[in-house]
Amino acid sequence: ARLVVLVSGSGSNLQALLDASADPAYGAQVVAVGADRDGIAGLDRAAAAGVPTFVDAVKAYETRDDWDAALAAHVAEFKPDLVVSAGFLKLVGPQFLAAFGDRYINTHNALLPSFPGIHGPRDALAYGVKIAGATLFFVDAGVDTGPIIAQVAVPVLDDDTEDTLTERIKVAERAQLVEFVGRLVREGWTIQNRKVRIP
Ligand code: GRF
Repeated sequence: ARLVVLVSGSGSNLQALLDASADPAYGAQVVAVGADRDGIAGLDRAAAAGVPTFVDAVKAYETRDDWDAALAAHVAEFKPDLVVSAGFLKLVGPQFLAAFGDRYINTHNALLPSFPGIHGPRDALAYGVKIAGATLFFVDAGVDTGPIIAQVAVPVLDDDTEDTLTERIKVAERAQLVEFVGRLVREGWTIQNRKVRIP
């Protein structure tokens, strides 16, 4: 199966997918990596793995709609079976969702619907929850609002800082993402109406 991964930052989730797909038995390959900005580690990781990359910055287009259409067109060139947002910090628009909404997943570093947005671990720590985690979900038009596929929990420890909690979540998050994508492909799971069907 063909994966296109979208990134905006460090790309550690991308790296986990690249590492997993180095084994042909995994069943999925990262065929392209897209970003909304240049100069990020995620693009370097793709290049190091010999995976083609493209950058579509919002500001390179006259309107947000133009950007949305261009991103959808770039992704479509690689004919993905699944598109993975892995730390991609842009909300896609209606054209992208029309093309890929049935196979566009995102991973978020909090247990949704708690703590959506870009500071999941920080917000969880500030609230004082004792369990944190990561959520894999189908992307819709909202911020971290789409149908949930899977969640994984980790404890919040008394001496946690934002960094230590973030790192604990990311370890579990990467494993969850790699496992879901692999099982989807190898076990013939299908997606209908943003719901996973297990044969
Ligand atoms: C992930 O923890 C994801 O949940 C959040 O941003 C982080 C991206 O990390 N949205 P990376 O770029 O995959 O290292």
